[in-house]
Amino acid sequence: MPDKKRRVTDFVKGGGPYVWVTAYDYPTAKLVDEAGVDGILVGDSLGMVVLGLPNTLGVTLADMVRHTQAVARAAPKALVVADMPFMTYETGPRDALRNAARLIRAGAEAVKLEGGSEYAHVVEKLVKAGIPVMGHIGLNPQRVLALGGFKMVGKTEEQKKKLVEDAKALRDAGVFAIVIEFVPASVAKEVTQSVDVPTICIGAGPHCDGQILVLHDVVGLSERTPSFAKRYANVAEQILSAVRQYVQEVRARAFPAKEHYRDV
Ligand code: KIV
Ligand code: NA
Repeated sequence: MPDKKRRVTDFVKGGGPYVWVTAYDYPTAKLVDEAGVDGILVGDSLGMVVLGLPNTLGVTLADMVRHTQAVARAAPKALVVADMPFMTYETGPRDALRNAARLIRAGAEAVKLEGGSEYAHVVEKLVKAGIPVMGHIGLNPQRVLALGGFKMVGKTEEQKKKLVEDAKALRDAGVFAIVIEFVPASVAKEVTQSVDVPTICIGAGPHCDGQILVLHDVVGLSERTPSFAKRYANVAEQILSAVRQYVQEVRARAFPAKEHYRDV
């Protein structure tokens, strides 16, 4: 893909593999964009990796608006997608339209919502209003209470059938891409082959049109990295080491040194 601003229309079946990562603020949005990702998700995972919540249910629309604005200010070449948080679309198209509009006005170029055929009618209304939508099937973290944990989905024949049906329903509703989270690789492969929109996978194997990871897992800044994520750096160690040194230097009166202050 040429190094120009990514639009939803740049994400086409067979054009991948597309690289996606989350970012929640201005500096990290700048960095991941410079690294060359195709898409940035302002994910509601921010509740867990940035706000310290046990799950994503406590993330509000105001949280998402604030963080989407910060990411958008970085003016990334990558496409900026914002998650619709818990209960901002489940109540129906009217609420979904209003809430999605707030994310779009905050700088998102598309929104993502969790669920399959049960929310296809909501997706359709958003798409008809000119708001591009990314689907999200497989493990839906916003349904964690009902699922009884962050568990793999799609292991039974019935679940597998539903995943394919969900992907088709979302495709028919007009999504430009579908995230598939934590399903067996063979199932993600079948879903990917069943729809003509790109699938972007997390913990769902290599047979997809793209991959997405949570930034804090990639750089080593999350408390528990899921088994399906890969840690490419240990930023926690670097922060720890830098701040430890700062603590030590202030206590030893080694900081500030001459170059860090002025006299009249
Ligand atoms: O919020 C998030 O980070 C996500 C990705 C895991 C797809 O939805
Ligand atoms: Na999310």
